[in-house]
Amino acid sequence: MRKIVITTPDDWHLHVRDHAQMQAVINDTARQFARAIIMPNLVPPVTSCAQALSYRDRILSALQPGSSFNPLMTLYLTDNLSIQEIETAAQSPFIHAAKLYPAGATTNSDAGVSHIDKIIPLLEAMQTHDLPLLVHGEATAADIDIFDREKAFIDSTLSTIRQQFPELRIVFEHITTEDAVEYVLSQNAYVAATITAHHLLINRNDLFKGGINPHHYCLPVAKREHHRLALLAAATQQPGRFFAGTDSAPHPRHAKESACGCAGIYTAHAAVELYAEAFEQVDNFIHFESFMSLAGAAFYRLPVNDGTVTLKKQDWTVADKINFADATLIPFRAGKTISWTLEHN
Ligand code: DOR
Ligand code: ZN
Repeated sequence: MRKIVITTPDDWHLHVRDHAQMQAVINDTARQFARAIIMPNLVPPVTSCAQALSYRDRILSALQPGSSFNPLMTLYLTDNLSIQEIETAAQSPFIHAAKLYPAGATTNSDAGVSHIDKIIPLLEAMQTHDLPLLVHGEATAADIDIFDREKAFIDSTLSTIRQQFPELRIVFEHITTEDAVEYVLSQNAYVAATITAHHLLINRNDLFKGGINPHHYCLPVAKREHHRLALLAAATQQPGRFFAGTDSAPHPRHAKESACGCAGIYTAHAAVELYAEAFEQVDNFIHFESFMSLAGAAFYRLPVNDGTVTLKKQDWTVADKINFADATLIPFRAGKTISWTLEHN
C-alpha cells in the first residue's frame, strides 16, 4: 500500500469558535496538527492580548487529555486598536500575528478595519516589532464583482501596504486566484500565502452543481478552474512561499442551509487527507512535506515539529454530520469517500 510519511504538520489558518462549539471541533484539528494559527473573529472579536490569552486557556482546557496541541493566537485589528496592544502581542510567546479583516469582508468582520489609512500607525508598530500581518485579501466596495475582490485587494490595498512597510511579514490568507499566486511570487520572502484544501479541490461550479450547494460556500468564494489549477501548481511546485492553512470554519447546519447562508467550509475532520488528495491529482508529493510541515514554521520563525504522521492510500467514509454544541455541522465531503487515511506514529 502506498504510504507517505511527513513531519507532523501545522494548520496556519483555523477557526475554532468558542465554548461548547469549540469543544466540538478542536480535537479534530489536534488529532492531525501539532499547532494552528487561531483566527480571532469571535463575537466579540479578540482585540486585546488579555482576550487572546484567555481564549488560549479555553482552547487548552478543551483538548483531550494528553494532547500536546499548541494553539498560536492572533489579534483582530480594528480602527481603534492601541499600539500598546501590538507591542504587548509582539512580546508574548503565545501571540503570533494580527489579522486584518476589511470591515464587511466575511463572517464576523463588521468590527474590522474600515480603511487601511486608519491603521497605518499599527502597521508601523507591527513592522518595528516584527509581528506578522495576516490579511483577508478581499476588497469590499459593493460595486466590485465578488469574483474580482481578491485581485482588487492586491491592487488597491496589498501593494500599498507592501510599499509603505517593506519589512512587514505578511501572510496573504486563503488565496483563491492565479493573480494572488503571481503576486506572491513577484514579491520577496516577506510575503507568503496560505492555501486551503477546499480551494485546491473545488471550483465555482461546485457551488451550483445540480442546485445551490451551501456547504461549498466560503469566502473568498471558489473561483474558475484555471485559478484552482494555479493554486495547485503553487502548492505542489513552489516550496517555501505557500503553506497549508485550512480556513476550516464550522457553522451550524441551519445557518448554512438558510435563505441567507453564511460562509465557511469545515475541513478539520480530514484536512491532511484532503490536501493529500489534492497533491495526488498532479501526482507530485515532492514538496508535500514543505507545504504541510516546514514552510509555515520557517515563515513564522518557529521550530519544526517533532514526530511524523503517515498517510496511507486507503478509503474511508466521512460522517454525514458532526455534533456541534446544540446543533449539527455538515463536514466537507459528508457521506462521501476520501482516499487517504492518516495514521499516527
Ligand atoms: O468562509 C469563511 N469563513 N471565510 C472567512 O474568511 C471566515 C470564515 C468564518 O469565520 O466562518
Ligand atoms: Zn478564515
